[in-house]
Amino acid sequence: MATGDTKTKWNGENGHTLPDSSPSKIKVELRYEGKTPAEEILATKSAKIRTLWQPSSDGDDNRLYYGDNLPVLASLLQNPDIKGRVRLVYIDPPFATNSVFKSRSQKDAYTDLLSGGEFIEFLRQRLILLRELLAEDGSIYLHLDSNMAFHIKVVMDEVFGGSNFRNFITRRKSNPKNYTRKTYGNVSDYILFYTKSDDYVWNRAYEPWTPEKVEKEYQYIEKETGRRYKKVPVHAPGTRNGETGKPWRGKEPPPGKHWQYPPSVLDEMDERGEIYWSPNGNPRRKIYLDQSQGVAVQDIWLDVRDAHNQNIKITGYPTEKPPELLKRIVEASSNPGDLVLDCFSGSGTTLAVASELGRNWIGIDNSREAIETTLKRFLVGLEPMGNYVEKPMSDKPTTLPLPIVIEPEIGDFTLFAVENSHSDIQQTVQEWQSNFV
Ligand SMILES: C[S@@+](CC[C@H](N)C(=O)[O-])C[C@H]1O[C@@H](n2cnc3c(N)ncnc32)[C@H](O)[C@@H]1O
Repeated sequence: MATGDTKTKWNGENGHTLPDSSPSKIKVELRYEGKTPAEEILATKSAKIRTLWQPSSDGDDNRLYYGDNLPVLASLLQNPDIKGRVRLVYIDPPFATNSVFKSRSQKDAYTDLLSGGEFIEFLRQRLILLRELLAEDGSIYLHLDSNMAFHIKVVMDEVFGGSNFRNFITRRKSNPKNYTRKTYGNVSDYILFYTKSDDYVWNRAYEPWTPEKVEKEYQYIEKETGRRYKKVPVHAPGTRNGETGKPWRGKEPPPGKHWQYPPSVLDEMDERGEIYWSPNGNPRRKIYLDQSQGVAVQDIWLDVRDAHNQNIKITGYPTEKPPELLKRIVEASSNPGDLVLDCFSGSGTTLAVASELGRNWIGIDNSREAIETTLKRFLVGLEPMGNYVEKPMSDKPTTLPLPIVIEPEIGDFTLFAVENSHSDIQQTVQEWQSNFV
């Protein structure tokens, strides 16, 4: 296992000095034809926007826009209540797949035909505007697959700064496939997580312990109490000149190490019975299972696959993401009352989850089918995937559904459209108005 010590750990210990690790002065940039200067992008003309529907109560906190996201983002930048106030952006743009997508009911949804430099520039322009919309303590998650994730990582470093890169999350998107191609099965996609600064909203996510993981990790049971625990060292790498470098209970810290806590704290732990003494007198700290919030989520997410059995509820919009995935992101990187933005909102997964978790939201999509699907979802929720397949229910697999996010009816939002496209969805709006009471 490679365990390089960071400079901060080494600094000042035993007089060790490491070469200067300040960021490289050689700037890394992605070059391609047609790369627009950032100032020009920031001067993008705002869209002319029409309000299509607004509930009588205050629907201003949540906004759904029909139209190209670039001029809509530019218009949001003109709004002082929104600019610099978005706590979280999640986007799941087209992935440069060279495909045309239809919904499960065979309606045209959207095209994904940009590639190479055109794709990169398309996304970069949006990222530059999104950066301006984000709050100083805000975060952005960008979902892509292996096609463009690596190019866009370089662009994200340019736009948000390499030091604001947090994670390159690998998500298992599907079950193993039987490939006929001579490659390994492609079951993953990626989420790039950046923040606007190093002081950002962060609520650590935990998964519940499984019995197997508990057995492996917390092997010991305290006789007196029956509590499960594991043993961890009470020392840490590096020597210290202060009290944590001195003997405790007559015992020196191991060579090259120091005690993790001052002797007074170690004494208190011992009094509470939290120190395990080995037969040859070495102390270790007991960490109890019942004090653990669960297993901290790492950067490989295996548990938030796209719908993979007929009972799982979906909207039927192509490439829709599971609510559980968005729940994890929204909970980790925003708090109730915060503003969450998705400018490739598709079937409205981010918006529905944000609403359920008490966040305000802005959604933008330029597909009529996406807006229709979102409105239907707001009204009637999701349907089991099996309902979209022309098979009698008796033929369908009976595997249990995942626990899904329950989506209550959503009506506290304003629906906007960019001028000239509003007439496309006039009928949809009328239907919504007549159904929403
Ligand atoms: C991968 S889908 C998003 C799916 C979504 N995450 C969900 O859970 O349903 C990408 C979406 O981006 C939208 N889109 C593509 N180009 C756009 C643009 N320039 N402006 C607004 N939306 C756009 C498409 O219409 C499509 O709905």
